[in-house]
Amino acid sequence: MSLTTVHTVADLRATVAAWRAEGLRVALVPTMGALHNGHISLTKLAREHADRVIVSIFVNPTQFGPTEDFGAYPRTLPDDQKRLDAGGVELCFAPSVDEMYPDGFATNVSVDDAMTTVLCGAARPGHFDGVAQIVTKLLLQALPDCAIFGQKDYQQLMVIRRFSKDLNIPVEIIGAKILREEDGLAMSSRNRYLSPEERAIAPTLNRVLAEITTKASSGAELGPLLAKGRQDILTAGFNPIDYLEVRDAQTLEQVDETVTKPARIFVAAHLGKARLIDNHAITPIDIAG
Ligand code: PAF
Repeated sequence: MSLTTVHTVADLRATVAAWRAEGLRVALVPTMGALHNGHISLTKLAREHADRVIVSIFVNPTQFGPTEDFGAYPRTLPDDQKRLDAGGVELCFAPSVDEMYPDGFATNVSVDDAMTTVLCGAARPGHFDGVAQIVTKLLLQALPDCAIFGQKDYQQLMVIRRFSKDLNIPVEIIGAKILREEDGLAMSSRNRYLSPEERAIAPTLNRVLAEITTKASSGAELGPLLAKGRQDILTAGFNPIDYLEVRDAQTLEQVDETVTKPARIFVAAHLGKARLIDNHAITPIDIAG
C-alpha cells in the first residue's frame, strides 16, 4: 500500500474509520516533519504494534516561544512524504495551522505538575502547554490504539504520559529509544542548523553524558561530575548551557548527591543557531543486576 496524504481532520477520521471497520490496529507517530532516521525508527516501532501507521507532520506554533525558531523550522513535506512512502507508512496527516487552530479556538491543556516547570519547562516557558494542546488534539483526532514518542524528548514523553492518564485518553503511549549518528550525536531535525565545524563539536554532549552516566551509576558524587561536564561542554564551544542536571527518571525531581534510584541526566545547550538536547538513563550499579 503506498502512502496517502490527507490534510483535514475529516479525511483522517474517515481513513481511520475504514481501517477500524476491517478490525485493524492503528498507531500514530506525531512529528513536526524534517524527518530523519530517528523518525523512521519510530515508524518501525509503530509497525511492531499496529497494522496501519499514521505519521502526522505539523509544525505547531503554540509550542514555540516568541524568539524561537518557529519561522525557521525546516518544512520539507515532499521529502518527508518520499521517506514515509519508502518506509511503508500508510498515512501522512499534514494539516494547516487553520485546520488545527481555526478562528475562535480557545482551549488550553496545561499539566500543573512540577515536571513541566523544570529543564525545558524552565528554559522554554509555555512550551509544554503547547505540546499538551497539540498532542491532545492529535490523539483525539486520530484515536489510534497507540502513539509513539522518542525518548530524546524524555521530559515531553513524561508530560504526555501524565495528561493522557489524567484525561483518560484511551491511547497507549509508547517511548522509543534514542537513535544516534555513528559519532553518538542524537538524531534531531535541528542538527540541520549546524555548520560543518559545529557538527564536529556536537557529539561532545553525548560524550559528556556518557562519562557522567558511567561514574554516577557507580555511586560517584554528582557535584564535581556536573561541574566538569559543564566546563567540557563550554570548552567545546557550546554557549550557553540551559541545563545539565540529573533527575529522577519518573518524577523528574532533582537528584543532588548520588544516584540511588533510576535517574536520567539531561542536557540542553546552544551551538550556533541550534539548541540541542540529549539525555541518558542512569541505573545505579547495585540495582542494574
Ligand atoms: O516532538 C515533536 O516533534 C513535537 O513536540 C510533537 C510531539 C510532534 C508535538 O508537536
